[in-house]
Amino acid sequence: MATQAGKGTALVTGASSGIGAVYADRLARRGYDLILVARDVERLNSLADRLKTETGRHVETIGADLTVKADVRRIEERLRADRGITMLVNNAGVGATASLIDSNVDELEKMIALNVTALTRLTAAVVPGLVERGNGIVINISSIVALSPETLNGTYSGTKAYVLNLTQSLHHEVGGKGVQLQAVLPGATSTAFWDRAGLAVEHLPQQIVMTAEDMVDAALAGLDHGELVTIPSLPDAADWERFNSARQQLQPNLSHKLPAARYTSGAATA
Ligand SMILES: NC(=O)c1ccc[n+]([C@@H]2O[C@H](COP(=O)([O-])OP(=O)(O)OC[C@H]3O[C@@H](n4cnc5c(N)ncnc54)[C@H](OP(=O)(O)O)[C@@H]3O)[C@@H](O)[C@H]2O)c1
Repeated sequence: MATQAGKGTALVTGASSGIGAVYADRLARRGYDLILVARDVERLNSLADRLKTETGRHVETIGADLTVKADVRRIEERLRADRGITMLVNNAGVGATASLIDSNVDELEKMIALNVTALTRLTAAVVPGLVERGNGIVINISSIVALSPETLNGTYSGTKAYVLNLTQSLHHEVGGKGVQLQAVLPGATSTAFWDRAGLAVEHLPQQIVMTAEDMVDAALAGLDHGELVTIPSLPDAADWERFNSARQQLQPNLSHKLPAARYTSGAATA
């Protein structure tokens, strides 16, 4: 397959399976060289070998557990030092389906370390260089549960709401400086995620489950359209626009010197 030169290097976390592996495939075909990060180096290497053969791109793999501080620091250093990196795909993440009271809180803490802390540190490491060079892309994989705290596990939903907020905030901060931001909110996607989260994907109604290939292709189409927030399943993008503008309309009234009248009038009725 023909490839374009000069796109630079994309660093993709969680590229050993599922959505991250499809990003690696699609980005190599778009002409990016790759740095693939995950714990399972054997799987990363076999993907890298295939992509090198099929696309001719340069593909490097790095084994790292992004819940381990020293491993995150190693990737941060690479992101700061390597001026060839033009894209970061923060994809590595885990979910959970149990309720809070039925969850192991140590596992939830690990989820926060991966979904929130590592993502934040990697983003903070890459963005200053992208701003300095006036060019680059950060794709953050959130989830539709960012908008639906009643679905799955509340900590998982919270981590993905964090990813959405951080991306919107960063767009506000550096979007005008040549750095493109995108939060991707997949719905249920057919990957190993579900087994790892404690619910086999086969148990979901199949009409709500997308393939990872369709999800990533739609997300990349959204990126090409310049979308800040991409919800691959959502039929009408205007629904998201209305939701987001309702949020923005609250803004002028979210901070006032005095409490709202409903909290003060009638306060003397004891
Ligand atoms: N599948 C869905 O329905 C769905 C829906 C919405 C959002 N998402 C999000 O999509 C992203 C990708 O998930 P997926 O569906 O593709 O699931 P997946 O197939 O389980 O992939 C998760 C990836 O993250 C990596 N990973 C997990 N723990 C890690 C750690 N401690 N350090 C480094 N890498 C780690 C895994 O690699 P190793 O095990 O080799 O480390 C794997 O490559 C996640 O952020 C997830 O929250 C998924």
